Amino acid sequence: MNNGSVLVVGSLNMDLVAQVRDMPRIGETIIGHSFDRMMGGKGANQAVAAARLGAKVSMIGCFGSDEFGDDMRTILAKERIETEGIRTVENVSTGTAMILVDRHGDNSIVVAPGANVHLSPADIDMHAGLFEACDVVVLQLEIPLEAVRHSVATAKRFGKTVVFNPAPMQPLPEAMLEHIDYLILNEVEAEELTGAPASDFDLLAARLSALPCGHVVLTLGGDGAASICGNGVVRYPAIKVDAVDTTGAGDSFIGAFASRLARGDYAESAVRYAIKVAAITVTKLGAQAALPTEEETMKFEQGWGAERR
Ligand code: RIB
Repeated sequence: MNNGSVLVVGSLNMDLVAQVRDMPRIGETIIGHSFDRMMGGKGANQAVAAARLGAKVSMIGCFGSDEFGDDMRTILAKERIETEGIRTVENVSTGTAMILVDRHGDNSIVVAPGANVHLSPADIDMHAGLFEACDVVVLQLEIPLEAVRHSVATAKRFGKTVVFNPAPMQPLPEAMLEHIDYLILNEVEAEELTGAPASDFDLLAARLSALPCGHVVLTLGGDGAASICGNGVVRYPAIKVDAVDTTGAGDSFIGAFASRLARGDYAESAVRYAIKVAAITVTKLGAQAALPTEEETMKFEQGWGAERR
């Protein structure tokens, strides 16, 4: 019986965000028009997204022993996220992401991983109880692959559903993919994983469908999403909004999807819900700062429904 609980094993970053008119070219210095320090990291974003949408969330990861790590622990606790599984690594900085957002809402991100690279299989073993207690385990790739592999194995030992977001992409062991229930990735990651160009959707979908994981969800930005499994391909349309910043949109999708699966929803309805949450997220600046609550999402659904009548 599902109780709506999600365990996120992943990264925590402090995002240093500057808004610019256009991205700088190599060797160019440009003047931006805003700077903000915001909480981010794919793992933490997905955890906060799920928590704001009503899931009971715990997280395993690493902070550095600095002000960023202290601030983030306090903020995550305010989001009602269980932080007992987050270790502070001494004499190391917390992960940091340098983010530029242009006038179209597109971004460019460089992550200095800091403490995130210290997450190890021993951390996973130490918190095996969190795996046992949850319904859905969510993973990405801003932490060492060894920790991800060990998390997948631990999740499967307890019979849990695994949602995996291979971002940033790197070569993946086939044996690990076999244990992934839901692989959620964007077109760039799908191209890297399969070698098929995003411009050839049918080929990309065929290659994704041949992967040994259970079910693939391909996020397509302004074109919605596609769900790909043995039964075929289902396309889901996007919701048109004016994008201010696309940072964290994929993370909001994954957190929302996991929160619905954890409540016992079918994948199809979880994808539809995740598309709405991602649409709201891109209308505001920042990753976690832009993530909607369950109430905001409900209001958006009502307004969007009214617009269509
Ligand atoms: O997916 C967006 C996230 O990627 C940012 O919050 C940044 O920290 C990087 O991890």
